[in-house]
Amino acid sequence: MRIPIVGGNWKMNTTRAEALPLLVALRDGLDGFDGAEVVVMPPAPWLGDAANVLEEDSAVHIGVQNVHWEPRGAFTGEQSAAMLVGTAEYALVGHSERRHVFGESDADVNRKLRSILDAGLRPILAVGETEAERDTGATYEVLRRQLEGAFAGFTDLPTTIVIAYEPVWAIGTGRTATPEAAQEACAAVRSMVAERFGAEAASALRIQYGGSVTADNIAALAVQPDIDGALVGGASLNPEAFIAICRAIAQARHA
Ligand code: 13P
Repeated sequence: MRIPIVGGNWKMNTTRAEALPLLVALRDGLDGFDGAEVVVMPPAPWLGDAANVLEEDSAVHIGVQNVHWEPRGAFTGEQSAAMLVGTAEYALVGHSERRHVFGESDADVNRKLRSILDAGLRPILAVGETEAERDTGATYEVLRRQLEGAFAGFTDLPTTIVIAYEPVWAIGTGRTATPEAAQEACAAVRSMVAERFGAEAASALRIQYGGSVTADNIAALAVQPDIDGALVGGASLNPEAFIAICRAIAQARHA
């Protein structure tokens, strides 16, 4: 039985004055919640605040949106996974905005993934096709290339890893993938992981769907057999919406 996992990726949003009450609302609104694992990913400047607000027994875990692949060094403006030990538990890697806005390659994703694992953090690896790739029927080819690139040189699937299927055309557009399309792609990711690392590893792997998830559309996505939660962008900035998404995901699993 896979425990669903919900991520809230705030991206480059919130002032400190906005971030603090949002963190408090999540802590209080999800007090005692155990229907899914919850990970909040605030911008890096608020990670220390997040750690202060979300004490160790909080139901809300902390993730970082991006890391450099080296543990330390002359990399002005960057943060390493190693530095986040003790503050964050999860680290996002391969997000479409990192790939498409900042030009990160599959090789970069591979290096970052290794650094996250070396530091003992839990990676959330995002993959997904663009609209043009979907339109030309290249979706599975792209997912396979991204997975092969991320896992180049790996002999086993890292046990702590979560994969997020986030079709680029659904991110921030309001055009959520249909539950059927999201299920089909998540099932394809699982079978690619099974081919590469074996059926047992693949069946234990948690796969999130991300892309315009809201409190209104999550229930139909969350009941799909290969979808184990969600990675939420815009709606994670609204505590009521995000908490409703967490509860709907927990509900779907018990249904
Ligand atoms: P939206 O939920 O705003 O579409 O963003 C999804 C996302 O990119 C989460 O990482």
